[in-house]
Amino acid sequence: MRTIEWCDGIVITIDQTKLPLETITLKITTVDEMAEAIKSLRIRGAPLLGAAAAFGLALTAYHSKANCTSELLAELEDAAKTLKSTRPTAVNLFWAADRILNKARDYSGDIERLKALVIKEAQRIADEDAEANRAIGKNGAELINDGDVILTHCNAGELATVEYGTALGVIRAAWEQGKKIKVIATETRPLLQGARLTAYELKRDGIPVTLITDNMVGYVMHKRLVNKVIVGADRIVQDAVVNKIGTFTVAVLAKEHGVPFYVAASKSTFDLAHTSTDVIIEERKPEEVTHLGAQQVAAHGVGVLNPAFDITPLNYVSAIICESRVYYEKDFAKFKGKILP
Ligand code: MRU
Repeated sequence: MRTIEWCDGIVITIDQTKLPLETITLKITTVDEMAEAIKSLRIRGAPLLGAAAAFGLALTAYHSKANCTSELLAELEDAAKTLKSTRPTAVNLFWAADRILNKARDYSGDIERLKALVIKEAQRIADEDAEANRAIGKNGAELINDGDVILTHCNAGELATVEYGTALGVIRAAWEQGKKIKVIATETRPLLQGARLTAYELKRDGIPVTLITDNMVGYVMHKRLVNKVIVGADRIVQDAVVNKIGTFTVAVLAKEHGVPFYVAASKSTFDLAHTSTDVIIEERKPEEVTHLGAQQVAAHGVGVLNPAFDITPLNYVSAIICESRVYYEKDFAKFKGKILP
C-alpha cells in the first residue's frame, strides 16, 4: 500500500493522528496545507517527510500562475523555506526539498517543462523510497532468525515511509520468508506512535505483536523476552543515529544485556556532512507531556521538557541496514569520510 500518492495536483495521504480508530483520507492541494500536515504529525516519519516535502513542491509547481521560469523558481524557493521550517530533525525533508530545488535551478527550458520536471522528480523520490525499503527488508531479513523476538520503538513502518517501512520492512521481509518471529512494540510516549501505529500495522498484517509501555524495556531485556532490537532513524550523522526520543535508552539497555541493536534506514536518512552536535533536536509543546490526549494529567504550570528525538552514539549500534548493504561497527569509522562507503 502507498502511504502517499500524487493524483493530478492533489496529494492523497492518511491523517496519522486519527489512526488506528479512524482512517481519514487527507487531500492536500497547497504547500501551506502540506506544512500544516507535517507540523501536526498528520504526516510523519522521516522517509515520508521526504516524500511529503517533494510533493509539497510538486503542488507549488502544478498550481503555479507564474509567467516565467524565474518566477516559478522563486515560488519553489519560498515553498521549500516553508516546508523546511516545519520540523528540523529528520534530514529526509531537507534532502528531498534540496534535490528538487537543485534540479529546478539547473533547468533552462520553458515553464511548462519545468513544472513537469518538478512533479516527475517528486514522484521519483517517492518511488525510490518504496524500492529502497524493499531492499532494506531483504538485506535486513538475513539478520533475522526463526524464533526471534524483536523489539522496535516508535513507528518505522509503512506509515512512516512511502511503502513497506524500514525497521518494520525488515520484520515484514523476514515474516514473508516464513520466519516465525514475534515483535514487542514500545508505546512511544508522548505521542504513542508505537501503540497507535506500529501495533496497528503489525496486527493488521497478522505479525504477532505485544505492546509494552516504554518503561518496561528494562524488564523485558532482563527477563530475556527479546533477542534483537530494530529501529528506524531520522538522521544518521558521522558519530550517531538520531531517532525518536527513548531510542537511546533502548540502545543502552540492549548493550547492557548483549542484545544486538540494529538501525534500518535508506541513504536519504544519512547526513554524513555533520556530527551529532550539529543536529537540531525538535522541541515540541508541553501539552504533549502534561496531557494524555485531551485529558490533563500534570499540575497546571509545571515545567516540561519535550524533545522529540534523542542521539544514540554509534558504539551502541550493532549494524545499520541500508538498501545497498549492511554497515557493521567496523564500517562506522568510514562515516567520518563524509561519504557513505
Ligand atoms: O515524530 P515522528 O513520528 O515523525 O518520529 C518518527 C521516528 O522517529 C521514526 O522512528 C523515524 O522517522 C524512522 S521512520 C522510518
